[in-house]
Amino acid sequence: MAVLNIIEIKNLSKKFDDHVVLNNVSLDVEAGENLVVFGRSGSGKSVLLKCTIGLLSPDEGKIFIKGKNILSLTKKELNKIRKHIGFLFQSAALYDSMSVRDNLAFPLIKQKLIPADKIEDKIHNTLAMVSLEEAIDKMPSELSGGMRKRIGLARAIITDPEIMFYDEPTTGLDPISSKEISELIITLQKKLNMTSIVVTHDLICAKIIADRAIFLRNAKVAYEGTLEELVKSNDPFLKNFFSTELINT
Ligand SMILES: Nc1ncnc2c1ncn2[C@@H]1O[C@H](COP(=O)(O)OP(=O)(O)O)[C@@H](O)[C@H]1O
Ligand SMILES: [Mg+2]
Repeated sequence: MAVLNIIEIKNLSKKFDDHVVLNNVSLDVEAGENLVVFGRSGSGKSVLLKCTIGLLSPDEGKIFIKGKNILSLTKKELNKIRKHIGFLFQSAALYDSMSVRDNLAFPLIKQKLIPADKIEDKIHNTLAMVSLEEAIDKMPSELSGGMRKRIGLARAIITDPEIMFYDEPTTGLDPISSKEISELIITLQKKLNMTSIVVTHDLICAKIIADRAIFLRNAKVAYEGTLEELVKSNDPFLKNFFSTELINT
């Protein structure tokens, strides 16, 4: 069977004024693959994700999701594709004034995905996947940082996305919580047959999640391979990056 590239990014370029952030970047992600994107701060990782989901318009290039060029779609068609996509962004905090139940109901109601009388069951099932059923009536302020991330993850997957985008999913967590959330992410990725792009500079997280990794540098995909290949590379830049990351983690 031919391998399906569920995401294809072709010759993507993006600049802000005269600051070139992405220069002719091409990238394919196979169905079921978990791709980790590394790069130093400011190297364009978040910009790459935002372009891929249509939150930022690139200057040049094409982005195919499930075979459709998202840059040439009408708003209605784009919304249809977006129903297959979930995000877990660092800034995607829970709504503080809403209970866990209402936080999880929100995307279901907004996207009109399931009938109203099925919502409560769906919330219970999804909370069970992140082992937090007992938190259903809690407010976000009553949860630990690690628990909030798990609820954020539950909210992101409750719409049954086929593709997930994670931007620094472990930032702000201690190493143990970081490992736990990374393990939960990979378990759910496999269980729900999702494809993902994960931006991180957390090596523990990457080790758990990455089928393959790329490294953005100087507005390009400078390196690509398995995590082991990148970590063991003799390239001075990569050596320096990973030794610094290891000290920091
Ligand atoms: N909306 C924007 N307007 C202007 N510059 C931006 C915008 N978004 C990102 N940038 C710049 O693009 C560069 C890459 O940003 P980003 O992708 O957020 O980096 P990171 O790799 O840390 O995620 C940075 O120099 C940032 O300042
Ligand atoms: Mg970023």
